[in-house]
This record gives sequence, C-alpha cells and structure tokens, in this order.
Amino acid sequence: MDSLEIIGGNRLVGTVPISGAKNAALPIMTAALLADGEHVFRNVPDLRDVHTMTRLLGRLGVQAVYRDGEVQMTSFGDIQPTAPYDLVKQMRASVLVLGPLVARCGRAMVSLPGGCAIGARPIDQHLKGLSAMGGRVELRHGYVEVTVPRGRLRGADITFDFPTHTGTENLMCAAVLAQGRTTLVNCAREPEVEELARVLNKMGARIEGAGTSVISIEGVESLHPVDHAIMPDRIEAGTFMVASAATEGDMLVDGIGFEPLEAVIAKLREAGAGIEREGGGIRVVGSRPIRPTDVITQPHPGFPTDMQAQLMMLMCLAKGTSRITETVFENRFMHVSELNRMGADIEINGRTAVVRGVDKLEGAEVMATDLRASASLVLAGLVAEGTTHVRRVYHLDRGYEQIEKKLAPLGARIKRVAGNA
Ligand code: UD1
Repeated sequence: MDSLEIIGGNRLVGTVPISGAKNAALPIMTAALLADGEHVFRNVPDLRDVHTMTRLLGRLGVQAVYRDGEVQMTSFGDIQPTAPYDLVKQMRASVLVLGPLVARCGRAMVSLPGGCAIGARPIDQHLKGLSAMGGRVELRHGYVEVTVPRGRLRGADITFDFPTHTGTENLMCAAVLAQGRTTLVNCAREPEVEELARVLNKMGARIEGAGTSVISIEGVESLHPVDHAIMPDRIEAGTFMVASAATEGDMLVDGIGFEPLEAVIAKLREAGAGIEREGGGIRVVGSRPIRPTDVITQPHPGFPTDMQAQLMMLMCLAKGTSRITETVFENRFMHVSELNRMGADIEINGRTAVVRGVDKLEGAEVMATDLRASASLVLAGLVAEGTTHVRRVYHLDRGYEQIEKKLAPLGARIKRVAGNA
C-alpha cells in the first residue's frame, strides 16, 4: 500500500484545477440503470470509488468504460438486480443502486453496507421510503431485498426523519419511474442532489424542487439516455482552500463558484483568510495570525461534515481556542489522535472537539481510517516542521484525484512512496 511523504513548511502558490465531484458522479452513474442505450458522463474524476461503481454497474448489466475523465455506459436492458457484498463493502455509496434497481426491475437485492468507520450509517430512511412506495422490504443473509408485488412502485408522500443525502437521491431515482406523484419532505439540499435531478430531468424525468427541502416527482413511463458533464467537487475545492489558508499561500482554486461553498468561505474568512472571486474560480490568500473559530457541522447549506477534519487542522494553528461540533456523524473524530501526535492540542468532549491552538505542528508517521481524516493529515503535513508520512493513502484515493500531483506544482514537497503499509 502506498504512502505519502511530505516535507512541510512551503507556501502554496499558483492555480489548482478542481475535478468533477465524486458525490455527484456516483449517483449520476447509477441513473444509467434507469434507461437503456448509451450514456456519456464527462468530467468524471479518476477515483477509486468511481472505479468501484463502474465494476458494480458492470455486474448489474450496464457496460461501463472509463477513459480520460469520461464514462461511457451502455445498458441493453438486461439488468441483474443483485449487488454483491464484495463490491458493496468497498464503498457505502453502492447503496445508491437500490432505488434505480427497484424502479427498473421491480426488485433488488443489495448487500447491506455494514458498519463504517465514521459511524453506524444505517439506511432505514431509504427503506422506509421504498416501503411507502409499495416495496416489500426484507433483510436476509446480510442483504436487503426489496420486491414490488405489483411490479411498479407507486407515488407516495414521504417525510424523512432528517435530511439524508444518499437517501434523498435513492428515493428520487425510485420515484422517477413510479406510477403517480411522489412528494419527498425534509430532503437533503446538497448541490449534488440538485445535480442528480438535473440529469434525471434531462433523461425525461419530471422532478421539481431539488435543492429545496420539498421535492416532487411525477412518475413517467420511461427515460432516455443522457450526455452530461459532472459539476465540480466542492469538498476537493474546500480542502485546497484550507491548504492555502494554512500555508500562508496564494492560491486560485479554479473551476468553482462561491455558491456551494458559502459556509466554508464564511469560516475561512472568520479565521482570517482573504477570499475573493476571480474569473471562474476562488482566490484564497492565507495570513497569520489564524483566528480561532467555532464550527457546527450540519446538512447543506450548513457547514459540511466532509470539511470538518480539514478545518480542525487549520484551527490547530489558531491563536486561541476553537470548538468544533460534529452533529451529522457520531464517530467522525478519528483524525484527532493523529493530529495530537503531530503536536496539536485537541480534546474530545462528546460531540465537540476543543482545539487549543499551538505554535507549530511536527512531522510524524500517521494514518487515518477515513477519507476526509486522511485529507486533514496531508494538510497537517504541509505545515508541519519536518517530514510526515501519511499511511493508507488508499482512503485518499477514494476521494481525491492524485492529490500529490495537484499539490506539488503549487510548491508542496510531497511524493507518493509505493509499497508502504
Ligand atoms: C453523503 C455523502 C458523504 C457525506 C454525507 C453527509 C455521498 C456518496 N456521500 O453520505 O460524503 O459525508 O452525505 O453530508 O454522497 N442516516 C440514518 N438512516 C438513514 C440514512 C442516514 O440514520 O437511512 C444517518 C447517518 O448515519 C448519518 C446521517 O443520517 O448520521 C446523515 O447521513 P447521510 O446524509 O445519509 O449520509 P450519506 O448519504 O451516507
């Protein structure tokens, strides 16, 4: 397994292009299950999760070929509605095939994603919705099996107990081919949900309200294939913005606007970073001192949980104490012990991390057990004194397109070392 070696201390200066969004690409790829023919998705990031999805869809009967940021997907209508454990266990987002499969085939068997490093992450809200639409849900031998006795789902009024991102996407996909109207209330409002709705509508679906908390979907008889370029990744962009703020850098984060990043921008400004629109991107200028700031993670448009670890790293270097409260996932502080090993002073108090700023971080051997935690350790390595080795880079490769190849031209001393655990 590869690791990253980082020698900290350099300012990051220059322009970084932002890739297509992982969390938009994954659900959009599953939409190919809903219509026969040839789909083309562009600006698809070259990530491990994307390749896992390609393999999973291949098993389900959709031929998918990834080449240079483009996925061509061909569905001949012979869909096998079983998503096996060996692929689902690699990526929780595999559960996104559930809604499209039930809509298309009237049944689906999807391995339960199981426990995950950042919390229990059940799928009860997805199942509650499918059952309200006429699906019979059973849990058997580690698989969730949904069958629709009358063959086609029917529209229903469904209120989520709380906004779930993939839950909203799954039910939206299920409802597009259902009979009648579905109204989803208390939906996730993430930009990726809106993007999925845009793609489904291009395919002939009739969805209104995506991006708000109430989505209504008028079911149609069939959909047609689509050609679509995936939106930019706001979390990758946010991660580079923190890198600039932390290294006293001057970076143009290119190819993304302010809108999906408002909450992150507000916090970085509070911390003292200069942030301006420039051309088709965002310029971020870091300076000292970094000011402490309190953060509470929330569903969009609140501060994203996927940026919590990175912002915490920045707060490690602030002049004063910050409080970071994680409300979305119950176990998402795995980076804390590793940051403390690098000289940070963070104490966990229930769902809140109390971060007392220190003068410097020190390079160390670290590893993390989830994607965004790993990103925070790379950021820490960029500012730390000495050398940092970030182990288990495969977590990073799930969500960042060759992060070292984007950081190095900005001035970072970072390289991938093959073969280390
Ligand atoms: C998605 C994102 C992930 C992000 C998260 C929160 C993708 C592929 N992943 O994950 O990067 O961190 O949103 O913004 O888009 N929950 C239940 N029951 C359910 C569904 C969710 O209890 O049926 C809980 C979860 O355990 C969690 C919370 O709801 O505590 C929010 O989860 P959810 O929004 O569903 O996250 P994901 O869609 O899995």
